[in-house]
Amino acid sequence: MIGMIPAKWWPWLVLASPILAPYLLLENVRFQRNRNRAVELNQKRIETAEAIALPELDHLKITVLVEWMHEAGFLGAPGVSYLFRTEQGSLLFDIGFGVASPTLTHNVTQVGLDLGQVNALAISHLHGDHMGGFRSQRTRRLPSPVALNIPTDLPCYLPTPAEAEGWRSQVVAQPGLLTAGLGSTGPLVRNLFFFGLTEEQAILAKLKDRGLAIFTGCGHPTVKTAFEMAHRLCPEPIYAFGGGLHFPITSGRGLGGSNLQMMVGTGKPPWQRITDADLTETVQVLNDSGVQKVFLSAHDTCDYALERLSHELNAEVSILKAGATYEV
Ligand SMILES: [Fe+2]
Repeated sequence: MIGMIPAKWWPWLVLASPILAPYLLLENVRFQRNRNRAVELNQKRIETAEAIALPELDHLKITVLVEWMHEAGFLGAPGVSYLFRTEQGSLLFDIGFGVASPTLTHNVTQVGLDLGQVNALAISHLHGDHMGGFRSQRTRRLPSPVALNIPTDLPCYLPTPAEAEGWRSQVVAQPGLLTAGLGSTGPLVRNLFFFGLTEEQAILAKLKDRGLAIFTGCGHPTVKTAFEMAHRLCPEPIYAFGGGLHFPITSGRGLGGSNLQMMVGTGKPPWQRITDADLTETVQVLNDSGVQKVFLSAHDTCDYALERLSHELNAEVSILKAGATYEV
């Protein structure tokens, strides 16, 4: 854990150790107990999933509203919000820190978009950097659409139940079609140390003459699991992948310079780091899939890992920037 926590935190941690040590021990018991549970659940869901009738799309455009990297004049944040646009409509995927940070509102205005035109919202998973801030995460309550300048009563596709006043919320219990010709893998699960079994959905699109595109939020359930589900749902070759992979190997993003991302959300106990070998496995999965275009998220992946991915992937690689629009 040394190196992941700033020196100024250590005296406080030592003081808190009579409470912290038993808490970590108890969390570790839960973590170890659920270790195989997530793997078994995903296997069962993949085995029993039925193909979904994704329509063939001519166009898929992604405008990045919240990301760590950003174009000049835009704000960056360690969260995610992407607007997907196809010839069948639009879907907002995650809302970053929502109204708890000026990032989303500033970037939407700066890019000249009107979220009043959005057809639906999908939340990848119920973490603060995707569902509207850490208060939203703690209370499991989404910000109201009014606060985000979005009309009320739009569909909001959730991976697990949450309070979503002002939205027409639907829990996506299994893979299926959402809005704008886009689909969902349905919830896939990862056992995370502080959060327990964490459900996350990825977005699917079938692109005419190209193949399947898959976009994750944080990618907690791993890209391998998402690809296995995608293969089951749609026989097309994987053409594009985008979004978070969660590889803070040498540092984390933001969050008080604490490198907390290196300790939480990794699928390991906080005293174990994500390693180069872990990244090598993911590089192999992506290269073996034959994916041709990769859009990396820097919100949960450090510069070192992005550099490795950019060099080692056989695909054309872009690093997503807030304010930019990408044609998939
Ligand atoms: Fe994230």
